[in-house]
Amino acid sequence: IAEVKGGADEGLGRVGQSLSVMGWVRTLRSQSSVTFIEINDGSCLSNLQCVMNPEAEGYDQVEAGSVLTGASVCVQGTIVASQGTKQKVELKVRKIILVGKCDSSYPIQKKRVSREFLRTKAHLRPRTNTFGAVARVRNTLAYATHKFFQESGFVWVASPIITASDCEGAGEQFCVTTLIPSSHETTNTSIDAIPKTKGGLVDWSQDFFGKPAFLTVSGQLNGETYATALSDIYTFGPTFRAENSNTSRHLAEFWMIEPELAFADLDDDMACATAYLQYVVKCVLDNCKEDMEFFDTWIEKGIIHRLSDVVEKEFLQLSYTDAIELLLKANKKFEFPVKWGLDLQSEHERYLTEEAFEGRPVIIRNYPKEIKAFYMRENDDGKTVAAMDMLVPRVGELIGGSQREERLEVLEARLDELKLDKESYWWYLDLRRYGSVPHAGFGLGFERLVQFATGIDNIRDVIPFPRSPGSADF
Ligand code: 4AD
Ligand code: MG
Repeated sequence: IAEVKGGADEGLGRVGQSLSVMGWVRTLRSQSSVTFIEINDGSCLSNLQCVMNPEAEGYDQVEAGSVLTGASVCVQGTIVASQGTKQKVELKVRKIILVGKCDSSYPIQKKRVSREFLRTKAHLRPRTNTFGAVARVRNTLAYATHKFFQESGFVWVASPIITASDCEGAGEQFCVTTLIPSSHETTNTSIDAIPKTKGGLVDWSQDFFGKPAFLTVSGQLNGETYATALSDIYTFGPTFRAENSNTSRHLAEFWMIEPELAFADLDDDMACATAYLQYVVKCVLDNCKEDMEFFDTWIEKGIIHRLSDVVEKEFLQLSYTDAIELLLKANKKFEFPVKWGLDLQSEHERYLTEEAFEGRPVIIRNYPKEIKAFYMRENDDGKTVAAMDMLVPRVGELIGGSQREERLEVLEARLDELKLDKESYWWYLDLRRYGSVPHAGFGLGFERLVQFATGIDNIRDVIPFPRSPGSADF
């Protein structure tokens, strides 16, 4: 359907062509002697209107009600100029074949249904306008991501999903445990099934991995190993967090893009993040026009304008210290306290991007070291680290990044200070022992990017199958 209607002439160039179209029936309405069937195949937002009169082959099936909303069909006919105002062309049907019938219990009928309801029908929701459009924009963003990094000379690296290290040190990992399967026993995946030592502790030597293993919260540490060999790299894969936060910005399973730049500092990192965001947003505006117009009309008025500004205008930058000052001076009552040394809450982030800086992305740098991860490079003031967060309107934190601590002694001292087990970071420390280089990187939550680009307010609606506390269906 995109091929027929997608061109600048909206299909007029194809008038007179004979073709077959396969798709799913979206709507069906009969008038005295003709029946209109709108079909959609997911290639674009538009449906193809098919006009049938009683002479068309298969008409009796339509008449008899075997072809209903939701059914899959193959329609053959000729493209003609449409008499209607909603489309330039339509298909004059010669023959319709019912491929798969659909009964009247089909839950996606023409009337609008809520996105909450559709979450319970995640297997069918891609057949709606909104979820079809989200899927196409998400696809464009993924393609643009690879394109941007490939064209900039970055190498894509597959970071592992199962890992023994906790990159963020926030204790939000899902544990993966399985007894070593033997031929005569079925695998038992319960932690209780792992034998205990005399002291009652879990005896990890009996476990598949021989020690506690987890689903990764970030591919960064692994990414650093490749950046300190291949220079610029990026990862793009699923990550997992057992955060018990039921918010519209958190998922238990989300995709992250993590570039890592060698011979680079925080300024290089921020420049890369800015260029990346502008590039992918421009790709969506250029290549998803119909879907973006849909979002602009139905989801967030003005989103196209807002995104055009992102592409064209410079991003603002300020230090964490200045951000705190701004928040303290704000004539506003916040629920959470504002004080140097405390992390910014989403209400603070929203104030900064939506009110203080009128809907523009803002990069905040140099956070207090106490609220950031162990690997961030300490600044000369001894109090802050070379970290940066990019905040965007409506979503809040889109990107978190930093220059990494490349000095062996400083990093070892930091691990000690945080009482982290140096032994288990031996390979990470090796990178500082053998040809260490200044390097920096960031992580971008892909679903938050899709939210930002579509205006969809709940993160559960921008990933095909959302996982959050209490929900892992489908
Ligand atoms: O700020 P975070 O925790 O940073 C890291 O993981 C670094 N290791 C990244 C790096 O420097 N390579 O997470 C990065 C981004 C956040 O800014 C946010 O967009 C997203 O990941 N994110 C989540 N998205 C959805 N659901 C969650 N539970 C998320 N947690 C983080
Ligand atoms: Mg963060």
